[in-house]
Amino acid sequence: MKFKKPLEEYRSNPVKTAISDAIEAATALPATEIYQALEKPPQPDWGDYGWPCFPLAKKEKQPPNRLSANLAASTALPSGVEKIDSKGPYLNFHLDRLEIIRQVCRSILEAGDSYGGSTIGQGKTIVIDFSSPNIAKPMGIGHLRSTVIGASLKRIYRHLGYKVIGINHLGDWGTQFGKLVEAYRRYADPESMRVDPVKELYRVYVKIHEEAARDQTLEEAGRQVFKLLEQGDPEIVALWKRFSQISLDEFERLYRMLGVEFDFYTGESFFNDKLDSVIELLEQKQLAQKSRGAIIVPLDKYGLEPLLLRKSDGSSLYGTRDLAAAIYRRQTYNFDGMLYVVGVAQTLHFKQLFKTLELAGFDWVENCCHVSFGWVTLSGEMMSTRAGNVVFLEDVIEQTVKRSREIIERSNPELEDKDGVARTVGIGAVIFTDLSVRRDTDVAFDWDRMLDFTGQSGPYLQYAHARLCSVLRKYGGQPEIDADYSALNLPEEYAMAKLMLEYPEKVVLAAKHDEPYIISAYLLELAGLFSAYFQKYKSPEDKILSSDDRVRKARISLASCLRTVLKSGLTLLGLEAPERM
Ligand code: ARG
Repeated sequence: MKFKKPLEEYRSNPVKTAISDAIEAATALPATEIYQALEKPPQPDWGDYGWPCFPLAKKEKQPPNRLSANLAASTALPSGVEKIDSKGPYLNFHLDRLEIIRQVCRSILEAGDSYGGSTIGQGKTIVIDFSSPNIAKPMGIGHLRSTVIGASLKRIYRHLGYKVIGINHLGDWGTQFGKLVEAYRRYADPESMRVDPVKELYRVYVKIHEEAARDQTLEEAGRQVFKLLEQGDPEIVALWKRFSQISLDEFERLYRMLGVEFDFYTGESFFNDKLDSVIELLEQKQLAQKSRGAIIVPLDKYGLEPLLLRKSDGSSLYGTRDLAAAIYRRQTYNFDGMLYVVGVAQTLHFKQLFKTLELAGFDWVENCCHVSFGWVTLSGEMMSTRAGNVVFLEDVIEQTVKRSREIIERSNPELEDKDGVARTVGIGAVIFTDLSVRRDTDVAFDWDRMLDFTGQSGPYLQYAHARLCSVLRKYGGQPEIDADYSALNLPEEYAMAKLMLEYPEKVVLAAKHDEPYIISAYLLELAGLFSAYFQKYKSPEDKILSSDDRVRKARISLASCLRTVLKSGLTLLGLEAPERM
């Protein structure tokens, strides 16, 4: 991805930046390269950052061990570094703990909510195609994964200064609509349509698939209806509109619960009038050809199945609409990069799509990326709406909110707005579950795990944040930017400061790899350090609110920084950070 280049070269950690500048001055290698190569030494007493001298050794044709020994003596001490030494081929940097704590706390207290942000993306536009569920089915937790990952990426890129356009490419067109209309006509119950249209449409949709296994004519009937829809048959178009609106209302209700927003809902049907010109263009470029009545783009030279543009009955396809959508988006938004947050099942589709765009001469396709994620399985099987083997998002949210309401009732019955907090925490649990693993990992949906709010969960992070808020409330005053940080001499305090120093880099890495997990794993580590610290120093004399004025003030500044970073990270993941729970 060419558009990621600035992210790859961006040096967001000020201490590593100072170190790489110092090595550049001593070696004449480019600082950005040095920065990328800095590592965490395998043992903490070897230092905080290590630089392997191999690339330099190769260039200078000298043994790396000798180079590192020479550099340890000749490199100027960067700001925040106390000592430089060498171990074998490594040049190791030992940080000045007090200086690091001071630098980190000051920069967080100064930046506030913008800590970890940047202007690196300024003037650049990223399109993110995410969620994109299919109309006329309730949203299952498969689409939840795309929704949650996409929404988080949107926030991450925005934090880095990019203009982000979130698009919901609703699946609101295709043969399945013919089937749905047919199913509606055959099986729908008017009363149920009135009471709960989403459920009823889903019921008849599942039913027609069951029946179709026995009755071959149903497939054909569905295809015929879809053809009529494409031809603009008024009765069918009216039904399609009605079904689309019903689903859209339902999706928007769920998005509101999740705190997810889109800039555009341009679903597949939006591109209907733009398909002919795409096919013409591909014909002109001699990429498209007829094959047994259909129109295809052969891609066998590239080891891919052909991309189908038009079926022999004249109807268009998912791929045709995606081609039109990509071209339209580029023309309309002039994006620098475009991400499609879609399950791994569609890998081939995106390969075909990108290859076709490339062959058609659209060089911007090199900045389009399929941000794929693993399967969501249920009791060991693929979830399938058609087979009725799905878990609905709505039910999951209902259960987690109920669970968090019970926990609050037990542990904090005096809490104000218990229902509101229960929603925030329950929804936080749902969102975090999807972000707590790398996106390419398959996840087996598991009610126990979803409802476990201890350990690696969203509520655990929210709780750490609420505890910090409570300490700061008890203190009452404002944290001081010029506290006497020399009072922070506990190893835990340094460990937390050091980890907070790394936050901006995590945000950049999350964007570079389109991986919100980098932030969730980071937050779990930070909250873990804090919880251990809090537990250890909770005794009246030695707690954060120490009776020693100097210590208390310094600890409050540190606590305030922790709260800021936790809240920032939670926000980037799309979770709310309640102040009490
Ligand atoms: N509606 C599709 C599905 O549920 C996902 C669409 C993803 N976006 C796209 N531009 N193809 O499988």
